[in-house]
Amino acid sequence: MLKKLYLLLLTLFVFWVASCSSYSPIEQKQLGLGAYNSASSKQYEDIYGKWETVSKLEKGTEFKPEMLGLTPGSTTADVHINWYSDSDEDESVVRLFDAKGEFVRLIFGRTGVASAGKGYHKVSFKDLVAGARYKYSVSNNGVDWGEEYYYSVPAVGAFKFAVVGDPQLAIGNQDSAAKNWGEIVDKIAESGANFIVSVGDQVDAIAGDEAEYSHFFAPEKLRSIPLAPVIGNHDVHCHFVYHFYLPNEQEVPESCIGAGQAIVEKAGNYFYLYNNVLFIALNTSAYPSSKEDAASYITVFENTINAAKAAYAEKYDWIVVQHHKSTASVAIHAADPDIQYYVEAGFEALMTKYGIDLVLAGHDHIYARSHLMKQDSTDAFSVRSTDGKGTIYLTLTTASGLKYYPPFVTLSRNVNYPYLSDGKTGSEFLSAGNPPLSMFMQSQKMTPEYTIVDVDGKSMTVTTYGSYGVVDKFAISPTLAK
Ligand SMILES: [Fe+2]
Ligand SMILES: [Fe+2]
Repeated sequence: MLKKLYLLLLTLFVFWVASCSSYSPIEQKQLGLGAYNSASSKQYEDIYGKWETVSKLEKGTEFKPEMLGLTPGSTTADVHINWYSDSDEDESVVRLFDAKGEFVRLIFGRTGVASAGKGYHKVSFKDLVAGARYKYSVSNNGVDWGEEYYYSVPAVGAFKFAVVGDPQLAIGNQDSAAKNWGEIVDKIAESGANFIVSVGDQVDAIAGDEAEYSHFFAPEKLRSIPLAPVIGNHDVHCHFVYHFYLPNEQEVPESCIGAGQAIVEKAGNYFYLYNNVLFIALNTSAYPSSKEDAASYITVFENTINAAKAAYAEKYDWIVVQHHKSTASVAIHAADPDIQYYVEAGFEALMTKYGIDLVLAGHDHIYARSHLMKQDSTDAFSVRSTDGKGTIYLTLTTASGLKYYPPFVTLSRNVNYPYLSDGKTGSEFLSAGNPPLSMFMQSQKMTPEYTIVDVDGKSMTVTTYGSYGVVDKFAISPTLAK
């Protein structure tokens, strides 16, 4: 009897100890790193909030972040968030809820000085659950919070992404372009695309203009769909650096003042893994003055590709490159000297060497799809593949309709450069009869367009839509050794 009483008391004691040491489900999710308002919360590294700060969740007044947008994180489990505010003195805080509204996490990020007295704010969510739907809102002080937005993490396996080119949003008489851009983003959202690749010239003014970025971030769906930008020749200003929080960026400018190609020529080379696709973004905004000058950029591109492949070895079936200045187009930029120098210095040879399946670009405000192309070590330039293995170069027209360039115009400024014409006759003979060697098809329907890429294992279907319906559709599989 005494023994039974002793066992009962012991059981009750153990249960009491266990219950005292357990945590609520919410507390278990706190990682307890950092402290709100500590100096460490200004660090670039993201810091998870302490439980005490959660008590502030329901207080305060409405906060209105400016130009709030998402970019992909390093992998599908991460996503980055950026916004502007009136102060660079404040914090950058995001609270995350699951779809049922249960609090998941408080995250601190980085704050810095942007242009025109504004502050930029950059935070990353990490370790998100595949297929889960979250809600988030942002704050500059942990007390006053902005509107809540949904973010859905792609499920493992098949996914789709959109591609847009040259929205190049301007101010003044360009209201129709801003409207078209909003409609294109809505169509992309309706398609169910998980994120958007933008191949540069997001805005127009080379000097940088925040009013243009207001147009760019205006579509509400950009609060829920990440957008991965590249630096186009119109994006060479510090505003780009402030507005986008890029994953795995190879060189982040320490500080940024002014505008011009030299300001951002080292920025914007980055990569991310999206399920089974390795995306590599390259900055071709610069205007090299010779083949030798271009070689330094090619070295940066090769280093970025190598870093990407090393970071995610064995984790991808595909490699997609996104950059701005198409090397395989048919309109006014088809044989520009700067593009010639990129090609001569080895841009397309890199694509073959590293097994890039698809190269996405813009700049020429026209749609063009290449044959499967290859440039082996003995080739002076890319040639059409004869063994079914190679790279597809896809050039997109503008997603806003700002301006369009006709195909096959006379390119008198680079007459002796044949590679971007038919490989023989020089660019002055670029015409419907002497198209670039790479060209499979081109289309200039003078309407804003966007592309949807469905990825399902080792199958990729690429469909481009304009106002008149489908512009082009094709399917590819990975063919080059990775
Ligand atoms: Fe451009
Ligand atoms: Fe452009």
